[in-house]
Amino acid sequence: MNRFPPFSESTQVRLVLAAGLLVASGCAPSGTVSGQNKVVEVEAVEIVPAQGTSSPAASATSTALDEAATATKQVDEAKAAADKAIAEAGKTIAEPVAKPAARETVMLGDPSLTSGVPGQGPITLAEIDTWLANPKNFIELDPVLPLGLSQGASQITGLDKNPLTRAKIELGRQLYFDPRLSADATVSCASCHNPTEGYSAHTKTGVGVRGQLGGRNSPVSFNRILTGAQFWDGRAESLEAQAVGPIQNPIEMGFTHEGVVKRLGEMPVYKKQFEAIFGDLTIDRVGQAIAAFERALVTAPSPYDYNEQFRSFANLDPDDIADDPELAAKYAEAKAAVEAHPMSESAKRGREIFFTEKGNCTACHVGANLADEKYHNLGVGMDKPEPDLGRFVVTKDQKDTGAFKTPTVRNVALNAPYMHDGSVATLEEVVDWYDKGGHPNPYLSDKIRPLKLTAQEKADLVAFMQACTGPTPTVEVSRLPGD
Ligand code: HEC
Ligand code: HEC
Repeated sequence: MNRFPPFSESTQVRLVLAAGLLVASGCAPSGTVSGQNKVVEVEAVEIVPAQGTSSPAASATSTALDEAATATKQVDEAKAAADKAIAEAGKTIAEPVAKPAARETVMLGDPSLTSGVPGQGPITLAEIDTWLANPKNFIELDPVLPLGLSQGASQITGLDKNPLTRAKIELGRQLYFDPRLSADATVSCASCHNPTEGYSAHTKTGVGVRGQLGGRNSPVSFNRILTGAQFWDGRAESLEAQAVGPIQNPIEMGFTHEGVVKRLGEMPVYKKQFEAIFGDLTIDRVGQAIAAFERALVTAPSPYDYNEQFRSFANLDPDDIADDPELAAKYAEAKAAVEAHPMSESAKRGREIFFTEKGNCTACHVGANLADEKYHNLGVGMDKPEPDLGRFVVTKDQKDTGAFKTPTVRNVALNAPYMHDGSVATLEEVVDWYDKGGHPNPYLSDKIRPLKLTAQEKADLVAFMQACTGPTPTVEVSRLPGD
């Protein structure tokens, strides 16, 4: 895991600010200076082992601020250009299949992306015609990640093959919440990945059509924009590939791909949208639209993120801050943010355990989404007579036996129960699981060992994970196309 070195106080932190989509190599500690709606000053923290020499952090930061200022200007200019192009496009293009050349930079989590077609009740044909006639909804979006996730910008995948537009995200939203994608019109994606249940479900395993129980716990469907392979065992290579799976899974939505395409084609509001957005209606288009919606679901900054942002100023000399008005303003902003979203002393102690050898959590829960996108055996379920073999089924590699993909710790307080089989009810029990060193078995990860934590330390770890809870976007859940 040398790509994500565990944080320690002895590491020397260099601030690297850059615009938009930048390469971020660091793990969690992130100093970010954000400006209201335009987090153009997206920033990464690079952590390099201290080498005895101390670098002038202040001058690094001031260079960084210059870069940030340039970045802000660039994005402002891009926005102005986009607005102009939108206005131009509006004058000339009346047809739905309009594809304006301009791009729009947008902060993910912006509620306008997920608030649905304007109006009340079932979406009518007239409303969808108006929606599709607006060229703004077809402009390709350049997503910016909110503070915290921003350091994962280089992890963003899938946009080249499936560009984001407002129209596509909205179609995906409708499909995600629509039970008509299941055979008997009772189960939607949201049944198992429900916004009110942390985009997961508070059941041990997924509950599909006719109340059938699946074998695995429902993972969260947010922050997917930072991920490649999907499922606990990574068997779907992309979000698009994943999205069409549940529809024909007999114990989830119990339908067929042909069936769903036919049904959607018979509903004029859907048919119009597929034609305007893609030019056709196929199962792959269904997957693309849903994936676009899922990519718009991100976690906004948590107390943990504001704390990291503020910490990035700790290495600076207070006099240097005072001397530089721009830096002083950023400092004041970060201070106000951390005061408005405080992390408890217990959570701060938990953070140290999480990021150091003591807890060793960042051996796997690392990077912007606090998940390494790799597979590990913790021994969960390995005591059963026929254990779930997990990643082994995909790779047929012995060492992957009982290994599952590391889930995110972001918003984890909201999506109990835990683990691939939903066998662990609370975060306290999760910590106990790690404290005892998982469950012994021949394939246990070498990163798992007894931790010997005190009761206070265990409580601190739980408090830290709770501090990783940030708001998810406001999403319209009930406005769907009429029949
Ligand atoms: C009956 C419950 C159920 C329904 C309905 C359902 N899912 Fe899932 N979902 C699950 C379970 C359980 C898993 C994990 C399965 C596995 O790993 O083998 C999963 C996995 C996923 C993942 C992978 C997340 C990750 O961390 O790898 C995504 C994304 C997802 N579902 C989205 C959707 C979408 C989109 C729909 C609708 C088309 C949907 N789900 C319908 C239960 C459900
Ligand atoms: C060896 C890699 C590894 C280490 C180290 C590790 N985790 Fe995990 N974590 C995982 C994997 C893999 C899972 C899912 C395991 C399963 O379901 O079989 C998981 C699951 C979890 C879950 C449940 C999340 C959910 O949505 O179900 C939490 C919470 C968690 N870990 C917190 C921690 C904490 C706290 C630490 C440090 C004490 C830690 N992890 C150390 C890899 C790791």
